[in-house]
Amino acid sequence: MPGRDREFAATPQTVKRHWAILRNGHRSAAQPKARREGVRRSPFVVRQVGILGCGSHLPERLLTNVELERMVETSDDWIVARTGMKERHLAAAGEATSDLATAAGRRALANAGLAPEDVDLVVVATTTPDHYCSPSTAAIVQHKLGLTRAGAFDVNAACTSFVTALSAAHAMVAAGTVRNALVIGAEKLSTVVDYTDRETCVLFGDGAGAFVLGTDAAQGELLDHLLGADGSGAELIQVPAGGSASPARADTVTASRHFIQLRGRQVFRFAVAKMAEVVEELLVRHGASLDDLDLLIPHQANLRIIEAAAERLRLPMERVFVNVERTGNTSAASVPLALDEAMQTGRLKKGALVCLVAFGGGLTWGGSLLRW
Ligand code: ACO
Repeated sequence: MPGRDREFAATPQTVKRHWAILRNGHRSAAQPKARREGVRRSPFVVRQVGILGCGSHLPERLLTNVELERMVETSDDWIVARTGMKERHLAAAGEATSDLATAAGRRALANAGLAPEDVDLVVVATTTPDHYCSPSTAAIVQHKLGLTRAGAFDVNAACTSFVTALSAAHAMVAAGTVRNALVIGAEKLSTVVDYTDRETCVLFGDGAGAFVLGTDAAQGELLDHLLGADGSGAELIQVPAGGSASPARADTVTASRHFIQLRGRQVFRFAVAKMAEVVEELLVRHGASLDDLDLLIPHQANLRIIEAAAERLRLPMERVFVNVERTGNTSAASVPLALDEAMQTGRLKKGALVCLVAFGGGLTWGGSLLRW
């Protein structure tokens, strides 16, 4: 269509105008008025992005291995030997994912020294949203935290959700469309765990962790992200019913099809290989080697998976952060929970090169590289 061709043709004038926008941002007749009213310009200029603050929250209730011994046919010895887990936290009955996310988000904002109105975007990474259709958990958190200027959306890439959300929010802050973003990983996995199934109920816990991103890159400068997926492995980790493929009905509930099912051994092999691959690729992309890596913060799915990945990388465990013994697998919350604990316990030194890495249902995988 001639009209359409004309509209999108890149003439020397349009190219010049686009470069001017990239350099200076949009200038329109409406802008002076918008500025008077406190609306920011939207300059599409790539900026450095840093982590301005972190926070986390674990619910009070502890579920220990000893308690699990009373619930299913298992033993503390088996759980510790096969997973490294000793206890995990469970949210209370009336506590939703948004409550855990709000608590972590509030701490992250305080740590960053930001007020709620400084936040332009809240992203909640979760596989256990408050509601499966609408509203998003992020919208609920926006209200609970009083983020009056923030847009809100959820991200679900299973246990890779947090690094996926971090990558998306980083791009938006870097482009200047958002000033400060609150990125939260939060899960109430206890709602999708079958506590009569010993193969899964020992593995999971509830919790939340959060980062505040902004353009002050003095601390935790985000350098790069890498994401991947292979949907041919969708059945390895899944909650079979409850979505559009198999809507909730009385028979799906009776058949326990709303709980997590996983093929542990296959996931184990995939996870070890993929985590090592992601870390290596991110380092290569930055002209760095494993000797330069100060701290690896992996998804806390299983101590043996983490140890096997570290061994494959020939990375000593002293340079790998682990808290799985106290948290269990908290899916989207695990990486930000671990980073917050690493920060609070002094494991993150100024200038350290840090890699976050995760894998999960989908199958999905991803990592982030940052300079603390
Ligand atoms: N207590 C005692 N025995 C158990 C338990 C338990 N809680 N659970 C399973 N077993 C038994 C099984 O019945 C099986 O018995 P069998 O050999 O007689 O059939 C045996 O232990 C299982 O042995 P393995 O499969 O060799 O156990 P493995 O060492 O692989 O450990 C585990 C199992 C922990 C599940 C491991 O494979 C794993 O961590 N896999 C990845 C877990 C995973 O997918 N996590 C989710 C990632 S995605 C996300 O994070 C949401």
